[in-house]
This record gives sequence, structure tokens and C-alpha cells, in this order.
Amino acid sequence: MSTDHVGSVSRETGGGLNLADTTFTSATSTSAIDDILADSPIAAAAQRATRVLHGASGDLPRPAAQRILTVANQKGGVGKTTTTVNLAAALSVHGLKVLVIDLDPQGNASTALGVDHRAGVPSSYEVLIGEISVGDAMQTCPLNANLFCVPATIDLAGAEIELVSIERRESRLKEALNEANAADLAFDYILIDCPPSLGLLTLNAMVGATEVIIPIQCEYYALEGVGQLLRNIELVSAHLNPALHVSSILLTMYDARTKLAEQVATEVKQHFGDVVLKTAIPRSVKVSEAPGYGMTVIEYDPGSRGAMSYLDAGRELATRTIMSTSARMSEEA
Ligand SMILES: Nc1ncnc2c1ncn2[C@@H]1O[C@H](COP(=O)(O)OP(=O)(O)OP(=O)(O)O)[C@@H](O)[C@H]1O
Ligand SMILES: [Mg+2]
Repeated sequence: MSTDHVGSVSRETGGGLNLADTTFTSATSTSAIDDILADSPIAAAAQRATRVLHGASGDLPRPAAQRILTVANQKGGVGKTTTTVNLAAALSVHGLKVLVIDLDPQGNASTALGVDHRAGVPSSYEVLIGEISVGDAMQTCPLNANLFCVPATIDLAGAEIELVSIERRESRLKEALNEANAADLAFDYILIDCPPSLGLLTLNAMVGATEVIIPIQCEYYALEGVGQLLRNIELVSAHLNPALHVSSILLTMYDARTKLAEQVATEVKQHFGDVVLKTAIPRSVKVSEAPGYGMTVIEYDPGSRGAMSYLDAGRELATRTIMSTSARMSEEA
């Protein structure tokens, strides 16, 4: 990761020190300026960012086999895209090779990852209709050499209808991913961002993946529609993809100041138990600002609470399956 990222931290966290208000005489020594800066919010954020990014590199295990995760919830605006791109970035800063597939015609994941997704750019649409391969459609994210994205363009908006008449319409993505693996693209993680619906695009994501992550927003009606989503996942698992299971539920936009967020978190944990990740993502302005700069929050402000919580969630995701795999192995022994 380049030093530009740390530079962006300084830019975005500079509210606390206004150098224009500070009178420096020619007698002001460099070390005095260093002292002022060392105590400033800018320096604190830069130091935190450096610590976070240095601490992050290389200490997460590579999964024994590639993991393909669909981020789904047909409720809109619950944090699917934010979770997809930030978890992907959180895993990739550890040196893991991560691919994001944008399956939402809104193209928000492509925007947040800073990849070109103007009309006509090779995209997930052409991959789904079998015109091009994943390798031909994917782009390397400009700020992260371990992170790749198959973008979504406006063409994907018609795909739900076009796919209806195409053979094996529900397994087009799975076939494309099988081909990509055969071509030795060797991703450790593939994360698929779904639209807020349970149509053919989400179905393709569920047939192509083995795991589902469900983001749940800590707000009123948080569980609305989750029952229907779970029934769909069961149907896909029973008839189309036996490996599919809900591996994680992630609480998003958690506002610790409100009783409501706490109530939602308690209810979700009572209902779903250990599947719920211990890390909840706080509501944070930095998280919502980052896509406007074509960045994930990990790049935009690595030392912020939002970035650190996505790094924690990524760590949980990467390590607890290893734990459960070894627990299963010891049960089998
Ligand atoms: N932790 C957070 N703190 C603050 N804002 C957030 C957070 N997570 C997401 N948001 C904001 O909430 C809005 C919805 O998030 P996002 O686009 O990720 O949801 P989504 O489920 O993908 O939506 P859609 O259903 O439209 O695809 C966005 O404006 C995003 O920036
Ligand atoms: Mg989205």
C-alpha cells in the first residue's frame, strides 16, 4: 500500500489544527513545530493509520480452500455494498488476494473501489451472459494491488429479464467462477455484492457462493424480510447448491448512543447465536464519505473507528472458520 493512503488521512482529519491561526516567527524551531504536530489530531490519526496498516500486513491465515461469500439482504440500504468493499479491503491488506464481483446494477461497489464502470466497460453483465471471462472483466483496484473487481455497468439493469430465457440461467456466475479457477486466477476470497432483491442476480450469487453474509442494520424493522431471505437460502441449498449456508451475520450502522441499536443487537444475537460476528460496525461519517472518493474506508482513513471495525470483522471472518474447521476435524477424529 502506498503512502498516499496515509496522506489522505492527514487531509481528512485535519479539522483540529488550523495552521493559518498559528503565528510562526523565524525563531520558531523545527522541533517546536514537530512538537505541535505530534500533539495534533492529524498526527494522532496518521500514527494510528500507520499502526493499523503495518499491524495488518501478512498476519491473517490464507483459507485452506478459496472462500466465496455472497453479501445479501433484500432490504435496501442495510450496508451490503459497504460491507462487501470494506471486508474485501480488510482482507486484502493482509496480503490475501481478493475479488469483488459487483452484481448490483447500481454499481455502488465499483464506485467505492474506484474502478471504471462506465457503459461499455467489460463487466459482470457480459460475464453472466457468457460473452467474456471473469479474467477479462476484472480490474485491479487503483489503490490496492491485492484487490480486484468485476464492475457492474448500467447494462446489468436488463440482465434479470435477459437471463430468464438463457439456459442454466441460475448458474451462469458459478460456471464463470469455475472457469476462472481453472484458469488459475487463485483468489483467496471472492465477495459478491447483491442488489436489494431476491431475483435472478441474487440467485446467481447464491448458486455461485458457499457462504452468505447477511448485514443487518441496527434500526427499526431490522429483521424485516430476513425470514424470507433465510427460506430462499434453504431452497437454494436444498435444490441447487448444497454447500450454501449463512456463515455470518454482521450488525451494521450500530449507534452506541441509542437504546434501539442495543435492543436490535440483543434480539439478533438471541435469534441467531454464534453466527453473529462479535464485531458490530459503528455508524461513522468516514464510512459513508469514503465511496465519494472512490475509496474504501480502509484506504480513506485507516485509523478511524469504521476502518478498524471492518478490519476486526475481517479478522473474525478469516479466523473463526479456521477454528470451526479444526473443531470439526477434531470431532471427526
Ligand atoms: N457504518 C456506516 N456508517 C455510516 N453510514 C453507513 C455505514 N454503512 C453504510 N452506510 C451508508 O448507508 C447507505 C447504505 O449503505 P449501502 O449502500 O452499503 O447499503 P446497501 O444495502 O448496499 O444498499 P442497496 O440495497 O441500495 O444496495 C450508504 O449511504 C452508506 O454510505
Ligand atoms: Mg448496495
